[in-house]
Amino acid sequence: MKQATATQLAVVLGMGLFLVACGGGDKEGLIVPPMPAPAEYAEKHMPADWWTDAAKLEEGRKLFIGETNPDVNCASCHGKDGKPVKAGARDFRNGERMKLYSDSVWFWRIAEGVPNTKMKAWKSKLSEEDRWKIVLFERNFGLAGKGWDPEKHAWVDAASISAAGAAAAPAAAPAEAPAAAPAGK
Ligand code: HEC
Repeated sequence: MKQATATQLAVVLGMGLFLVACGGGDKEGLIVPPMPAPAEYAEKHMPADWWTDAAKLEEGRKLFIGETNPDVNCASCHGKDGKPVKAGARDFRNGERMKLYSDSVWFWRIAEGVPNTKMKAWKSKLSEEDRWKIVLFERNFGLAGKGWDPEKHAWVDAASISAAGAAAAPAAAPAEAPAAAPAGK
């Protein structure tokens, strides 16, 4: 009994130290995978040939910084260069974190916001196309040149998705498991 308690205590202490070691000095805290997108968003993905589309990217930039619509100014909290300017917003330049977010998760968060935070839902102000353009731009902070491959569940070279997407364009999106898997592979 005594032994078990000591072991438990050691485990708790160990975890505490681990958290302090990993999270203490870094205001971003531990890098943990985001919540998976709910079913209605899990199958939504960037149009394959957009990943390498410079014009769409530029439109995304203008949306993000509030140039297209002053009511939509993501940069006022997330920073023009992805470095947060308001507390609580994550650093989009952190590729190690951002690669755990699928394109569906980004799209979902932009559409619906994050409850009980400063991040509100933008779907009434942004069409689906505009949201994807913004995802395109946001991805550049930490994952420039990459695109989300829905089959591999991973960020890969953007050009490879565009090429595959162009070849398979008219085909319906294949059914797939919910996007819970972080990076890997
Ligand atoms: C008023 C400040 C504010 C504005 C404006 C804002 N956000 Fe956010 N956003 C936040 C905060 C704070 C979070 C972190 C919420 C949390 O705790 O998970 C967040 C989270 C996010 C996330 C989820 C990633 C994460 O950190 O987990 C995305 C994606 C995002 N914002 C994109 C946008 C986009 C795109 C816009 C513009 C359409 C925008 N935000 C406008 C404050 C803002």
